[in-house]
Amino acid sequence: MTPTNRLEQMIRRLTAQRNCLVLAAEMVVDVPGPVLEFGLGKGRTYDFMRARLPGRDIYVFEREIHCRPEYVPADGYLLLGDVRDTVPAALARIGEPAALAHFDIGTHDFAADAPLTDWLTLAVTPLIRTGGAVVSDRPMANPRWVEVSLPPDNGYSNHFVYRVGPERPE
Ligand SMILES: C[S@@+](CC[C@H](N)C(=O)[O-])C[C@H]1O[C@@H](n2cnc3c(N)ncnc32)[C@H](O)[C@@H]1O
Repeated sequence: MTPTNRLEQMIRRLTAQRNCLVLAAEMVVDVPGPVLEFGLGKGRTYDFMRARLPGRDIYVFEREIHCRPEYVPADGYLLLGDVRDTVPAALARIGEPAALAHFDIGTHDFAADAPLTDWLTLAVTPLIRTGGAVVSDRPMANPRWVEVSLPPDNGYSNHFVYRVGPERPE
C-alpha cells in the first residue's frame, strides 16, 4: 500500500535506496573499479557507501556543497560543478570506468528533471564498466543497461537497479 503521509513516504524511499545500494554492492564484489555518486546532498548515501564498500574509491558529482564537512569527499574525489560540465571529462580524470554508479540528483518533479536525466543516462555510458551496477531513483533507459528484477515488496519501491551489459558494436 502506498503511504499517504510524508514521513512514511520518506522512510519507504530511503529504505528502498539503502536496499538497492546493498544489492548493487553485492553485484559488484568481483567487479573492479571505483564508485560514482551523483548527488552528494547531505552526504547520506555517500557515507553509507564508503562504510559499505571499504577500499573502493568513491568519486562524487555535485554542483554545490551543502553538507557537513565530514561528508565532503577528499581532494580529487569531488567533481564540483554541474554534471553537464563535469561528466564529459570525468573518465580522463578518474582514470578507469566505475564498478557502481548511484544516481540521486533529481527532484520530486520527474517531468522537469527529464531533460537532465535523459542526457545523463547516455552521457555516463563510458564511465561505468561492463558488469557494473547502476542504482537510480527513476528509470534510466540506457541501451546497454539491463534492469534487474527487484523483490516485489516495499523495501525496493520506486527504485531501479541495472547491470551494465557489453559494449555494442558501432
Ligand atoms: C537528492 S540530493 C542528493 C542526496 C544524497 N544522495 C544524500 O543521500 O544525502 C540531490 C543533489 O544533487 C545535486 N544536483 C542536482 N542537479 C545537479 C546537477 N545538474 N549537477 C550536479 N549536481 C546536481 C543537488 O545539488 C543535490 O545536492
